[in-house]
Amino acid sequence: MADVELIRSLLRPHPDFPKKGIVFLDIFPIMRDPVAFEVLITHLVHHITSSATVAPVSSGAKKVDVVVGLDARGFLLGPIIALRLGASFVPVRKKGRLPGECVTATYEKEYGTDSFDVQVDAIVPGNKVIVIDDLIATGGSAKAAGELVKQLGGHILEYVFIVGLSFLKGHEQLDAPVYSMIEID
Ligand code: ADE
Repeated sequence: MADVELIRSLLRPHPDFPKKGIVFLDIFPIMRDPVAFEVLITHLVHHITSSATVAPVSSGAKKVDVVVGLDARGFLLGPIIALRLGASFVPVRKKGRLPGECVTATYEKEYGTDSFDVQVDAIVPGNKVIVIDDLIATGGSAKAAGELVKQLGGHILEYVFIVGLSFLKGHEQLDAPVYSMIEID
C-alpha cells in the first residue's frame, strides 16, 4: 500500500533517545511534509470510518462521539481526526495540568512511570470513543487512558496508532481492538 510505505519512509529512528537502549521513532518528519500529513490523516480517518470494529449504527446516530488524544503527540493528531469525524476532541493530559475535576490513572511506560488526568465532564456515559496516539510501545499509557474513559462510562471502539512496536506486545494490554498503520516487529 503506497500510503503506508510513504509514511514508513518518513519515520526517523533516533537510537539511544531519550535514554540508552531506546530507539525513538520520530513522527515529526511526516508533519513537515503536508502531502504526507494529509495522506496520514486521510488513511486513519478512512480506517476509522470503514472499520468493521466501529460497529454500524442506525441512521442519524454518530459512529464516533469522542476522539481521545494522549499527551503529547496524540494532541497533534486527535483534533484533526475529531474534526473530520464530526466528533469531540478530549485530551488525556499529564497529571496536574488540566483545570477542574479530573480522574487520574498511573502507568508504566517504556522508559519510566507517569500519571494521566482527564476532566470528568469530558466524556458522558455511553459515549463511543476512539483513543489515538502516535505510537504504541508497552501499551501502558493507552491502557491508562482506556481506564479513564471507562471510568467515565465511555465505550472504546478502537485504539488507533500510526506505529505499533509489536515486539513489545502493547496490544495485549488493551481490551478493545487495536489498529496500527505500521507494525514494527
Ligand atoms: N514512546 C514510547 N516508546 C517510543 C519510541 N520508541 N519511539 C517514539 N515514541 C515512543
